[in-house]
Amino acid sequence: MTEATNLPRHVAIIMDGNGRWATKRKLPRVMGHNAGMKAMREIVRRSSDLGVQYLTVYAFSTENWKRTQEEIGGIFGLLIKYVNQDLEELHEENVRVNILGDWSIMPENVREALGRTIFKTRNNTGLTFNIALNYGSRDEVVRGVRELAEMVKAGELDPADIDEESISKHLYTGKFGVPDPDLIIRPGGEVRLSNYLMWQAAYAELYFCDTLWPDFTPDEYETILRSFGNRERRFGGRNE
Ligand code: FPP
Repeated sequence: MTEATNLPRHVAIIMDGNGRWATKRKLPRVMGHNAGMKAMREIVRRSSDLGVQYLTVYAFSTENWKRTQEEIGGIFGLLIKYVNQDLEELHEENVRVNILGDWSIMPENVREALGRTIFKTRNNTGLTFNIALNYGSRDEVVRGVRELAEMVKAGELDPADIDEESISKHLYTGKFGVPDPDLIIRPGGEVRLSNYLMWQAAYAELYFCDTLWPDFTPDEYETILRSFGNRERRFGGRNE
């Protein structure tokens, strides 16, 4: 692993454009997701090689259930294929895998594959690779606020003590000790956050590009990360 100098500590990605990539080639959408999975694999490798500490990818949103059964099944199948094929390599690379989102409602075979991956990699100390699955930012905030309300109801928490830190801790990211993203990258041409890490994105740099996700290369990624390293971030204050 090369040492990270001035690279973002936490990079989050919206992997968009798989469907259009497939349509352009007159292929079924799931073939676009398959190509997207391969692109993701390369980005995980490069992140680990560069010494990025946290990488979070948006694999399936709370809104993606509106897609056809065929497409949903295709994405879940790829997820199982990915963790089965790459688990040994991820483990050897010292990568820790987390899931952000409520994956308890996923089909049994998906839960089994994910559970095995999380368990095997739980003590790894290299890249933390977060897969956002059945994830939505608003849903995440609702769940966190509900937990805090339960604590108030049980007399364990004074409402006056609810602050930004306590809300952050009750989000999926907070539960795994994942810091806010420094950089959010969205390939695929759309310029929006689509219910992704909205609380955590308060001070993140945002980078949008037209490349469709399956065409997004590790070299393009590395160039973005290195240019980010040169940017000045002030978090609302002033740098001297
Ligand atoms: C958005 O593209 C992409 C998704 C909803 C799914 C992302 C899934 C993968 C990259 C597959 C593998 C994932 C894992 C974790 C193994 P889109 O379908 O909305 O594209 P479009 O905007 O061109 O239609």
